[in-house]
Amino acid sequence: MKKRIFSGAQPTGNLHLGNYLGALKNWVNLQNEYESFFCIVNLHAVTLPQNPEVLRQKTLDLARIYLASGVDPEISTIFIQSDVSEHAELAWILSCIARMGELERMTQFKDKGKGNAERAGVGLFTYPVLMASDILLYQTHLVPVGKDQKQHLELSRDLAERFNRDFGETFVVPEPFIPPVGANILSLQEPAKKMSKSDENANGSIFLLDDADTITKKIKRAVTDSGTTIEFDEARPAISNLLTIYQLMTGKTPAEAEAHFGGKGYGHFKSELAEAVVEFLRPFQQRVKDFDDAELNKILKDGAEKARLIACETLRDVYAKMGIVGAET
Ligand code: TYM
Repeated sequence: MKKRIFSGAQPTGNLHLGNYLGALKNWVNLQNEYESFFCIVNLHAVTLPQNPEVLRQKTLDLARIYLASGVDPEISTIFIQSDVSEHAELAWILSCIARMGELERMTQFKDKGKGNAERAGVGLFTYPVLMASDILLYQTHLVPVGKDQKQHLELSRDLAERFNRDFGETFVVPEPFIPPVGANILSLQEPAKKMSKSDENANGSIFLLDDADTITKKIKRAVTDSGTTIEFDEARPAISNLLTIYQLMTGKTPAEAEAHFGGKGYGHFKSELAEAVVEFLRPFQQRVKDFDDAELNKILKDGAEKARLIACETLRDVYAKMGIVGAET
């Protein structure tokens, strides 16, 4: 039996290179080796206010992006979170065993709640519990994510272990898969921060659907550190970030990337980087356009059916272990 992976992204904002390099690229690389579930987490999206029409559209757009990235619906299961209601049900159960203190420590809640717990939504607070539910429902072994999700993964592990201890072996305890390179792509404008969908400054992120001109402009405007050489250097996060993107776009090793730009200046480097990103995204953007709505809908419907079978089984086991029974039929 193959081991399982589960991962997902929120259908909010526009997906950027960080999402691709930190997560989607690895989903595609792992999907042959693992039984894979890739979810469009629309219930997570509504932890912050969303325009209903935009959310509806972004949900389907995200499915197209998964497919265009190379997620293969013949071997992987792609589905929308709200199509499998067990996600919300198990989240309730897990919220009964999670502790306020451990959720209060979640840095994403502090960031997204802007430090004002009094005004923050309860859903934003319990966000990581729904995420644990996503993962644990599928008896997931490995969760490929970027570095920003590491703390949420630790909570998922803690909840699985606590449930197993209190009610008997029920959940597989999941491991994170955080890639050694690309797990934390930084903003092009503020390299102290990660590249983020919710960044108000669009120049900080290269979106997967940006056109060639926009990409080139954003890279030209990217901040660089003091110094002139094109080298990886922890003390120079801006240039290291751009080199990391270059390395991942071209498949070069760090040494090859550095050697390639030996003796060259920032201007030359940025032009080549822009070209590499544009060339990389061109076929991807074509594939996004290629899927028709009927084909997409069938993939999502079939995916939800497959996912539901496993989710049902896990939830039934959880209820049985806890003594939660309904009327006999
Ligand atoms: P989301 O939608 O914010 O991001 C999707 C994936 O992209 C990764 N990522 C990054 N990687 C590298 N550099 C960056 N700058 C960068 N920004 C984002 C994220 O780590 C993520 O892997 N909570 C999740 C969605 C989720 C989920 C799950 C993930 C819900 N349930 C279960 C895994 C398993 C999120 O908000 O991702």
